[in-house]
Amino acid sequence: MIDKCGRKIDYLRISVTDRCNFRCVYCMPEQGVPPIAHTQIISFEEILRICRVMAGLGIRKLKVTGGEPLVRRGVCDFIRAAKELPGIEQVTLTTNGALLPQYLPELIASRIDGVNISLDTLDPDTYRRITRRGCLADVLAAINAAWEAGIPRLKINSVLLSSINDQEAVSLAALARDRDINVRFIELMPIGLGQNFKPIPGAEILAQLTAAYGEPQPFCGRIGNGPAAYYSFPGLKGKIGFIDAISHRFCSECNRVRLTAEGHLKLCLHYDHGLDLLPLLRAGCDDEQLQHSIVAAIEAKPLSHSFGRPEASHTDKHTMNSIGG
Ligand code: GTP
Ligand code: 5AD
Ligand code: SF4
Repeated sequence: MIDKCGRKIDYLRISVTDRCNFRCVYCMPEQGVPPIAHTQIISFEEILRICRVMAGLGIRKLKVTGGEPLVRRGVCDFIRAAKELPGIEQVTLTTNGALLPQYLPELIASRIDGVNISLDTLDPDTYRRITRRGCLADVLAAINAAWEAGIPRLKINSVLLSSINDQEAVSLAALARDRDINVRFIELMPIGLGQNFKPIPGAEILAQLTAAYGEPQPFCGRIGNGPAAYYSFPGLKGKIGFIDAISHRFCSECNRVRLTAEGHLKLCLHYDHGLDLLPLLRAGCDDEQLQHSIVAAIEAKPLSHSFGRPEASHTDKHTMNSIGG
């Protein structure tokens, strides 16, 4: 699928639930989010149908996100079924890691292609302060267990927040020292509660890492399907990635659309407009009608996000937990 800006859309991010067992301060309110009526949640069968139709239109990679995807029962069976869809080349998962150890055997059996684990700090108190619910030792154990189990392409996602964990880039990057685990630093986006915190620019983090580890080499090979730019540092086995969502807009190369747990096909993470697929599916439309609607929606994919512009705060009612990043 090619959109009106000539971008090839081959990556679908699927938020299988907006619920989460954590309450990260920049993502979810302490009291959680109002529950979505069960009937309004897209079923795995319905998601698989959309994936099959979209594979017919050129989608090749699927990312399973949340909220926290592993809190939805049956997600590993879904991943296994998604892996078998004709045309789908890769299925990967982004998780906070808390429930990962118990699902490792199923994920390995599903032949998952990669797992990203969120970890913003190596200080137990700061970890509890940011996630409000999580335990640092558990996520570190999950990373080790995933590595030992042979999960391919393990990556760590770190969001640095001014005055909270902004001194941790060097220690977090050290997770890449002895193992081929890539550590990525994500600039906080001003979405929902993210607006209450100050992001740390990727360039600042790169300078700190250069001072600690030596001159980085840009890595030109392909890692994953997202917007990260990677570097190799002397002494680190894994690569260090930067997702500079604010300082480097990468929208011109955007290859993705998103599906929410309510069956909304979101065209850009920053705008609400898209296509509500649930009513179409449930009204009994056939695959051809579905394809036409999806193609027409993707044609209208926005050119770029508008973080930092005055109109930005009105662009989307979705919060990060329902968008899935
Ligand atoms: P892989 O590298 O293939 O694992 O994909 P990814 O980096 O897209 O996966 P992940 O789910 O770990 O997302 C990492 C961060 O990138 C999250 O904070 C997302 O919000 C952010 N991200 C993903 N896609 C986009 C995008 O289109 N625009 C912006 N601004 N951020 C994005
Ligand atoms: N900006 C950037 N990244 C975010 N994440 C959650 N909220 C934001 C935000 N506002 C990250 C999580 C997780 C990934 C899926 O998205 O930390 O690693
Ligand atoms: Fe849950 Fe991830 Fe949001 Fe934290 S950032 S509350 S782990 S969805």
